[in-house]
Parts: sequence; C-alpha cells; structure tokens
Amino acid sequence: MAVISLKNVSYRYPLEENQVIKNVSFEIEKGQVWGLIGANESGKTSICNIIRGFIPEIYRGELEGEVEIKGKKIESYGDGELASVVGYSFQNPFTQISGVKETVYEELAYGMENIGVPRDEMIDRVEKLIQIFHLEKLKDKNPFQLSGGQKQRVALASMIALDPEIVILDEPTSQLDPQSTEEIFEIIQLLKEQGKTIILVEHKIDLIAEYCDHILLISGGEIGMIGETEEVLTDPKVLTYGGQLPQVVLYFLERRKKTGEKGKIPLTVEQAYKILKKGGRN
Ligand SMILES: Nc1ncnc2c1ncn2[C@@H]1O[C@H](COP(=O)(O)OP(=O)(O)O)[C@@H](O)[C@H]1O
Ligand SMILES: [Mg+2]
Repeated sequence: MAVISLKNVSYRYPLEENQVIKNVSFEIEKGQVWGLIGANESGKTSICNIIRGFIPEIYRGELEGEVEIKGKKIESYGDGELASVVGYSFQNPFTQISGVKETVYEELAYGMENIGVPRDEMIDRVEKLIQIFHLEKLKDKNPFQLSGGQKQRVALASMIALDPEIVILDEPTSQLDPQSTEEIFEIIQLLKEQGKTIILVEHKIDLIAEYCDHILLISGGEIGMIGETEEVLTDPKVLTYGGQLPQVVLYFLERRKKTGEKGKIPLTVEQAYKILKKGGRN
C-alpha cells in the first residue's frame, strides 16, 4: 500500500490567478527514497506543503484532488496527528527554530514536550540525537547564535526526535559547506536504513543519484518525469524539463555521441569506474 498518494492534485495560492500545481498524481511506497527535483519555482516546496497538510491548512488557497497519507485522507487527520507521521525540515531552517527555547538541548526536547513524551524517554532521545548529530559542543548554546549549518542540524534533529514515519527534507543542505553536507547525507543514510519513507528536495544531483531510488521531476507545476532513478537520471530529456543530470551521466552521454557505443549509462562514479575498467563496454 502506498504511504503517500496524490490523485489529480492541483493547487492555487490565495489571490493568485494561476495554479502552481497542476493535476499531479503519484504514489510513494513505504521505505522508498524519492528525490524531488526541478527548476526554481517549479513547485517542489508547494508539493511538500501539500503532503504535510500546510496547504491548505495554513496557506489556504484552492486545493483540488485527493491526498492520502497511509491510506487515510489527509483532511481526516487530527491536529498534531499528521505532525507525528510526517516530519518536515523546511527550506529555511531559520523558520524552523521554535524561538521559545534558550538552549539547543531544550530545543531538541520542545517537540516531544508538545506531544507529551514522558520525561525519561525524552532525555534518552535527546542524548541520542546529540550523539548522532554531533551536537555535543552546541547543546548549551542559544539556537539563534548558531551558524546556518548548525541551525540546519538542530532543526533536523528536532524533527527526527519525534520519530516520524515519513520524512520530508526541503533543500536540507542549501546553506551548508561540503563537510556539513556530508554529515546530513550520513543522517539520510541512517534514516533510510531505519526504513523511513523519505522525500528529498535537493539541487546536488550527484547526491540525489547516489541516495534516492526514485525521482519526481516537477516542471512548471506538472510532473515532467517520474520513475526509478536509473531510468530518469540517465535520460537527457531531464534537461528539457529544467532538471539536471549527474556529472557521470553527462560525460557518458557525450562519449556515446562520439563513439556510438550502446548499453547502460552509469549513474555514479563507482558504476562508471566498473564500466571503464572493462574497456568502456557494459
Ligand atoms: N505563498 C505563496 N503565495 C503565492 N505564490 C507562491 C507562494 N509560495 C510560492 N509561490 C509560487 O508558487 C510557485 C512554486 O513555488 P515553490 O513551490 O516554492 O517552488 P520551488 O520550491 O520548486 O522553488 C512559484 O511560482 C512561486 O512564486
Ligand atoms: Mg522550494
């Protein structure tokens, strides 16, 4: 059964003339990791907001079609119920910090306090999060004193604290240096191993190719391409829909033009290495 299902979903922001999401349908199964890609303003964040119920609850506007989370219509979820199923890390981590807590430690416990997690369990979970997210040196600091990357890690840790089944990460590494980006992807790997269903909006397409098993490419509010990563991200059509292709794929597509070779296009450096070692054929 699909954990997330959208059927003929369209959406218009209040006071706007045009729909920004147009007749989008897709299903995501439990444990899958989806890369949500597309040009700026194509509608990626709007789709995340629809799955988290912020559209239309907070943004209002006009939503058409059906959205189901775990087989249940999204509008029939109670207050707070959806929050414990769908964890959401916002594109801008500054909006995610609660603003009411004075230390990172308390910030991490804040969401759990709200849903009434017992104190002992709360402390236990916070300690674990501090370890996983390397927050030992930051735990007594004020969340607002942190750098962009540190805020992002705290925001992500606070979300994971609630142990949601579905995790939406909207550009989690856009403010981060390569080192912190790697740390975030270590965490994504961990969540993947825990069997979470993940939607990842990310511009670093080489990382998408490595970590995601499925791709949803949005173009002007519509589905441009959809399918398994190996299918979608080796197809030059991605570029015409405003998406990007991994470096390795671009290289092999160029090579094919010159040599006329056929066969599977590799997605990652490891796959390319295997092919090149065999003399270019696969
Ligand atoms: N709160 C809003 N009110 C009106 N229009 C919006 C709002 N947020 C986003 N949009 C518009 O919706 C479209 C899709 O935006 P968005 O979902 O943020 O795209 P992406 O995340 O792919 O950059 C854009 O044209 C954007 O300008
Ligand atoms: Mg966005």
